[in-house]
Amino acid sequence: MKTAIVTGASSGLGREFVRQLRTYFPEVERCWLIARRAERLEELAAGSEGMEVQCLPLDLCDPMSFVAYQEKLTAERPEVVLLVNNAGCGYLGRVGETETALQTRMVDLNVRALTAITHMTVPFVAVGGRILNVSSIASFCPNPRMTVYSSTKAYVSSFTVGLAEELKERGITATAVCPGPMATEFLEVGGITGRSRTFETLPYCDQVQVAGGALRAARAGRTIYTPTLFTSFTGCWPS
Ligand SMILES: NC(=O)c1ccc[n+]([C@@H]2O[C@H](COP(=O)([O-])OP(=O)(O)OC[C@H]3O[C@@H](n4cnc5c(N)ncnc54)[C@H](OP(=O)(O)O)[C@@H]3O)[C@@H](O)[C@H]2O)c1
Repeated sequence: MKTAIVTGASSGLGREFVRQLRTYFPEVERCWLIARRAERLEELAAGSEGMEVQCLPLDLCDPMSFVAYQEKLTAERPEVVLLVNNAGCGYLGRVGETETALQTRMVDLNVRALTAITHMTVPFVAVGGRILNVSSIASFCPNPRMTVYSSTKAYVSSFTVGLAEELKERGITATAVCPGPMATEFLEVGGITGRSRTFETLPYCDQVQVAGGALRAARAGRTIYTPTLFTSFTGCWPS
């Protein structure tokens, strides 16, 4: 069954990816939604038409979630046409001054889980399949008080460029989308609201447009996609 998999589907950009999925990938017959909040996923599933939706309430910071995900893949052997690695978090705070658990959670979710999910899914990605990784403009410019976050997103962009090369011969593409700030739960969760001049100064991206643009870029097989507002940040990265 032609399957799309979206992590971090319970809010913000992830929810938009699910809502717009079939506009750009009409061949998708089934979607797996991953996040911790099961009730949010069920709500989204109930409003999704034209495809079967399965909710996988997993905490991707818990390594046991990788075991559960691998078991699901092995049992169902999906034909993956699209994997969206969107789950992510960013906590404001200086290295050495904030809780260790917050600093390492960014690495666990943005780097370790994204790597594990990709690694486990790649054998099931069909010829012509697409992998879409959510990075950030922070990946181009390390940001004080978001040092760990920026570094995790530099990993996501770099990982995507390498992955795109590795998968080329299988006809699979990998795309990193690099949005600027978006008004999502990310800002509250990360303790950013009202505490960051950078976030107050930069123009905001609309997550509805970012999701549509990113799905279009993935379909087109672009390697790095940056919403127009921020193209000047991209420097020497490939497009
Ligand atoms: N908002 C911005 O300013 C901005 C800018 C550039 C890039 N981004 C990136 O965009 C992506 C989406 O973020 P967003 O802005 O849409 O924020 P969001 O609304 O907070 O969404 C984050 C998603 O990740 C999921 N998630 C968090 N921890 C998780 C865990 N341990 N296990 C599984 N899922 C988890 C959340 O679901 P649960 O809480 O239900 O688990 C939620 O669905 C992230 O990768 C973020 O880094 C955001």
